[in-house]
Amino acid sequence: MLKKGGLYYPTTRFKNKAWVNDRKIYKEGEKNPVKFWEKLARELFWFKKWQKPFEHTPPYFKWFLGGKINITSSIFEGSPQGWDKIKDKTALIWEPEPTDQPSRIFTYQDLFSLVSQFANALKKLGIKKGDRVGIYLPMVPEIIISMLACARIGAVHTVVFSAYSSSALQIRLQGSEAKILITADGYYRRGKIINLKQGADEGIKGTKIERVIVVKRAVNEIPWQKGKDLWWDELIKDENTKCEAEIMDSEDLLFLLATSGSTGRPKQIVHNCGGYTVQAYWTGKWIFDFHPEDILWCTSDLGWITGHSYTCYSPLLNGITTLIFEGAPDFPAPDRWAKIIEEHKVTIFYTAPTAIRMFERYGTEILKDYKFETLRLLGSVGEPIDEGAWLWYFNEVGKGRCPLVDTWWQTETGGILITSLPGIGPFKPTFTGLPFPGTKFDIFDDEGKSCLPGKEGNLVLLPPFTPGLLRGVYKNPEKYLETYWSQYSKETYFTSDGAFKDENGLIRIIGRVDDVIKVAGHRVATGELENAINKHPEISESAVVGIPDEIKGEVPVAFICYTGAENLEHFKKEVVEQIRKEIGPIALPKEIYLVEDLPKTRSGKIMRRILKRLFTGEELGDLSTLANPESVEGIKQKIKND
Ligand code: WTA
Repeated sequence: MLKKGGLYYPTTRFKNKAWVNDRKIYKEGEKNPVKFWEKLARELFWFKKWQKPFEHTPPYFKWFLGGKINITSSIFEGSPQGWDKIKDKTALIWEPEPTDQPSRIFTYQDLFSLVSQFANALKKLGIKKGDRVGIYLPMVPEIIISMLACARIGAVHTVVFSAYSSSALQIRLQGSEAKILITADGYYRRGKIINLKQGADEGIKGTKIERVIVVKRAVNEIPWQKGKDLWWDELIKDENTKCEAEIMDSEDLLFLLATSGSTGRPKQIVHNCGGYTVQAYWTGKWIFDFHPEDILWCTSDLGWITGHSYTCYSPLLNGITTLIFEGAPDFPAPDRWAKIIEEHKVTIFYTAPTAIRMFERYGTEILKDYKFETLRLLGSVGEPIDEGAWLWYFNEVGKGRCPLVDTWWQTETGGILITSLPGIGPFKPTFTGLPFPGTKFDIFDDEGKSCLPGKEGNLVLLPPFTPGLLRGVYKNPEKYLETYWSQYSKETYFTSDGAFKDENGLIRIIGRVDDVIKVAGHRVATGELENAINKHPEISESAVVGIPDEIKGEVPVAFICYTGAENLEHFKKEVVEQIRKEIGPIALPKEIYLVEDLPKTRSGKIMRRILKRLFTGEELGDLSTLANPESVEGIKQKIKND
């Protein structure tokens, strides 16, 4: 990389080979975004071209109206690279956790056949276009096969992260009203077998799930109910390896994905067929500069949007190889991730700052035998990356050679929307970059005026938005309007992120301005944690805030109103167990403080901001507006004494 005044630029060699290497692309996108996206959409396979590119009836909008598409046809038989060119190429590599077990490798043809077989099996079970199918699978190839099989027949997949607890699964299945659940017997994580089927059985109670399809992975003992439970292998073994694609309207549902908002209940984010496909294809192609020989390792679990878009859909639409792995990147040894990169000749590595900081913590010594010669591009996602982690990643993994794209986006945006393009740059540590060509972002102050460079405000996305932006919150139009289109106007998408620009327009993301925290890159609503805590019979009220953490970026701490119990340590353990049960192990609080009272406004709103400031060292501000200013002093003492 070339360095100029704190900024990095791609080498001439990289630049010359990149799909985009000329700033003109931004001008073109700006001039007429709708035309720009239309031109991009034309490169994909459509059964029927759209009649109208864009329609806006705030807060709703549509793209490629009247167009007919199926994302799996765009991947397989209608691949932009040509089916004959990709069918014998490796589409998917799977690395199991017991590292002595063999990897599984699938060509595009293998994947197409399996997807078709499973799609046919789903049809036989009565699944039709528009039906929701729950997927609660670990990182096994079947998770990708299931997603694609649903898409093949127009069923709507709704993946639930396999580390979520059964209660969290239940609430998500209720939200999507899925009829079938695909799960596994178990999976490996850090040397242990997790019994997933048991959790799935708990989670489907009180939902509309009629059948459970079980992938045999860990061959562990599982509960089994004849008639309801079905083995994956048996279901597909006699199925035809061909299945016609369901012809989908551009604006038909492709998938739902639950995500945490500021309040307790997760929202089911709606993504549609046409726009999502176009955006997934092009953002991958330009931001990761996908070329036919690339092998991408995006470390995100398929249960998150990053896994949906950049482990599954985007690389496959681009005809490259995608790698998935079971377990943890630092188990059985801290250098497992480095081994995988070398063994499978990974060319593009995409991970979260939390993982980078963890790798760094293990020390550079363990990397001394790794040259990472195949790597040519690095990516970061999910949370702000600090300069230290950025430089370590860039120097120790990318060897100062690979462009490092910091990519900002959200479950709602469906794809990356702010980054530096690798063939153009500049890459500036801690700044994510510029809006993707054809998208218009701004940073607004509270009155909705554009902030000058250096001034912090709220990041907003302006019309015509992007083809892949969410189309709604499933069966909850009020929530859609309230969360995304109410801060300024029905024409301004509110991201819930604070940000500022530098003098060149590069955007730096500060973090969420709502009550969502990013714990190790995972999105968790403090409200969801509070709900989980408050379910404890002895707890009436609690407040959770995110505080800075060296490795995980942010971690939750909980304040609980509690004056009872004798054995406080035991009580705290119960609270942790309660969260594990309600949500899962991803969001356990770092500290629990038992307090007498929580700071509240006169109208009874808990002032989480003040609690947070007790940790960040910021000024507490005017406490006199509180109904109970004395509570703050008590809490301060608790934190000090603990
Ligand atoms: C945060 C993940 C800083 C942001 C793709 C956003 C980031 C939330 C970045 C969405 C980044 C994502 N730099 N912050 N590069 N990428 N975020 O829905 O706060 O899990 O609103 O989607 O993650 O999280 P989600």
